[in-house]
This record gives sequence, structure tokens and C-alpha cells, in this order.
Amino acid sequence: MTTDTTYHQMVDNKNGRMNRKIIVNEEIYKQELEQIFGRCWLWVGHEGQIPKNNDFTSIYMGEDPVLVTRDSKGKVHVFLNMCRHRGNRICRADAGNAPSFMCTYHGWTFATDGKLVGVPGYKEAYFEELDRSQWGLVEARVDTYKGLIFATWDNSAPSLLDYLGNMAWHMDLSFDRTAGGVDLLPGAHKWMMEMNWKWPTDNHVGDGYHVPITHGSIRGRGTASGTASGGGLNPANAQVQQRDAFAFGNGHGVASISPSRGSVWSADSENPVNKFNKEHEAEIKERLGERAKWQPGTCAIFPNLVISNPSWSGSIKLFLPRGPLWTLGWSYYFVDKQSPKEYRDTIRTYQTLMHGPSGIMEQDDAVPFIQATGTARGLIAQKYMINQQLGLGHERAHEEIPAMAAPSPSEIGQRGYYGFWAEMMDAPSWNQVKLTPRKF
Ligand code: FES
Ligand SMILES: [Fe+2]
Repeated sequence: MTTDTTYHQMVDNKNGRMNRKIIVNEEIYKQELEQIFGRCWLWVGHEGQIPKNNDFTSIYMGEDPVLVTRDSKGKVHVFLNMCRHRGNRICRADAGNAPSFMCTYHGWTFATDGKLVGVPGYKEAYFEELDRSQWGLVEARVDTYKGLIFATWDNSAPSLLDYLGNMAWHMDLSFDRTAGGVDLLPGAHKWMMEMNWKWPTDNHVGDGYHVPITHGSIRGRGTASGTASGGGLNPANAQVQQRDAFAFGNGHGVASISPSRGSVWSADSENPVNKFNKEHEAEIKERLGERAKWQPGTCAIFPNLVISNPSWSGSIKLFLPRGPLWTLGWSYYFVDKQSPKEYRDTIRTYQTLMHGPSGIMEQDDAVPFIQATGTARGLIAQKYMINQQLGLGHERAHEEIPAMAAPSPSEIGQRGYYGFWAEMMDAPSWNQVKLTPRKF
């Protein structure tokens, strides 16, 4: 911290005002890497990406490259993608299957369980004195929820389930509605943006407010309108204003959840998504029970995972920090495991059109995120607080959903997100972090 102020003071949720420095300050960014990316559970992939023994994928935790592997006995690991000798990456591929990774600098070789199994010159040059058991890959703690793989560098972190808390209630609507859960479609879009990593998450954690304005050009074009993406003040759609925004605790939030009303393709009975949903209606009800009546909304899982779902299936986007002023976006698409090719094609096409780097929604959103990062750099700008007062004082414990709610649009999600951000930034250890207890 650069001043005597605490992060809780910088995020003044009581008055709905937030210090703009948290967007651009280098020292704060270094603290974020340490206190948030070094300690929180971070999403690193899906079990379906590594179905066979010795399968692997590459991704990042914060700025650190990691490998997600399934070892030769079937156990899932997450390792720092860094050779323990000089630090060359041990794997440059995005994904594949290999029993071991040989570093291309001097040839140290690591198995998919992380053990150092090969050292050139072990006898002749190291005289068998190198303790290979001490120089295996650096390993993170791993856990999964409904097929999603998360990892943390902090052994004192709470369990993944306690960390996800009540957000798991909402995740099940997408990831556990049919047998087998979901698959990720192969590949990911990856792109760099000149913005702070928190802006896209801030947007998805509860910004129904921007939809009719930022995405105004989309309405009336036959594609999904603002009505499918989180609510807003669209006078043409009274239904939107009856929805709530939600803060699930622990920084997680949802822009809006609606009573089930079909997908963005509801009017087309021949649409493969519609047909699949109809065919599986009984199964979904049986698996989710009372919850089946709710349609999940665009949401964010603290600190940087975003899920956009127009019809339960959708995109999983990760916003990786690259300094305070740059963000690397990765976008995957997910579909029900049982879904046929036509369903998958529909989701792939729709999501590419809407949420990939060239997607209409994504491009609409990127401009204000870039601008709001740029203005925050200014000397004068930093003297003025960010306003976060939308719906302040109108929160209530929701009658059915285990979360705090407020009529959408509201910044209840953002207040929850930055409140937990401050909690993580101020707390010297996990023992001092106040978690929201799970209620379901
Ligand atoms: S850096 Fe990997 S073997 Fe030297
Ligand atoms: Fe948006």
C-alpha cells in the first residue's frame, strides 16, 4: 500500500464511492498479484479438456503460465510452466498428450505428475549429487466443481466450495442441468486490450445498466438484444425492470437472473438449442429441482472469470492481468455434453458473433473499458471518486435465491466485487478474510 489508507477506505461501499487509483496504480497492481492472484482460487480449465491420462493444456494464473495435466494414473495437477533449472517454459503447446515435458534449454525432463525424471549429465556432470526429488515442478493446489478446474497457490485458502460459496447455486444452472455436465468447445479466442483487468469483470458482475446504451445498436437487428444480457432501462421491455441483480458473496455476482423464459432463440421452434432444451426439460427439472425455473445470467466469479450465457450454454471468459493497463482476454465456449453438433454450431456461431474478440457485444464493451482505464491515469481524474451508488440502500436478502438482491439495474454486484477485493487486499492471511457462508 502506498499511503496510510486501507483498501476498505478506498472502496467506500457505504457511500458508493471508489478511489480511481485502484485502476492504474503500479503499487496496487503488485499487491493484487500477491494478495489476489497469489491466494484466490483461479479457474484454469475444464476436466473435459484433459480426458485421457497424460493429456495437458496451457493457461495462466494471473501472470504465471501454468500447465494443467492429467498424470499417468489419472490425477489432475496444475504446475507452473517453468523449468526448475533456469526457468525456460517446459511446454509451449496449447494442449496435447505427452508422458513428459523436456525443457528445450538443457534438457531437464518432467513427468506429468511433476517429478523431475531426466537430467542430462546427471552422472558425469552432476556426479549424482543433484537431489532430483527437490527440483520437481512447482505445483498449485487443485480442486474441481462440476467439471471446472480451479487452482490456488495458497495452501491456507478455504476449500473451493467455501470460496465459491452461494455462487455454486447459480453455477449449477449452467454446469449441472443435464447428465455429464458440459464440454468446452475446442480452442479459445485470445486477445490483448489496453484496459485494467478489473473493468470487464466489473461489467459482468452486475452491470445491467449499460446494456441499452452501450449495446443500443444491437437492438432491433434480430440478434439477442439487451434483454438477453443482463437487463437495463429499456422502456420497451418492462420485464427487464422486474428482474433483480445479485451479489452472491465472496465477490461473485450476477447481472440478473430471470424466471425461466426460454433462450434467445425461443421464437424458433426448429432451433437446435430450443429443441434440446425442450427434449431435456424433465431431466433438467429433476436435476435442479426448484432451481430449474431460473435462467442463469451473465456473471462473474471473483477475481477474473466471466460467464455469459444466452441459453444456459455460453462463453467462459478469463481476463488475465498484464500490468495495470493491459489485459489478456481468453474466451471459451461451453455446451451441454449431451448436445448434438447442430446445437454446438449454434452456440459457436452465436458466441463468436457476440462475445469473441470480434463479437459485437465484446467490441461495444471494450471501448468504455479502454477509455475508463485511460482517464484514470490523469492527475486531475485521480482526485475524483468513481460513483458506485446505483441502487445503494435498496438491497435485500432474496426470498428464494441464496444471495443479496436489488432491482436491476443496480451496482449491488460491483459493490460486492470491490468489497471482497478490498477484503483480500487488506487481509494479511486467509484467516482474516470474511467469507459469506454457504446457504444451500
Ligand atoms: S532451463 Fe530447463 S534445463 Fe536448463
Ligand atoms: Fe456489455
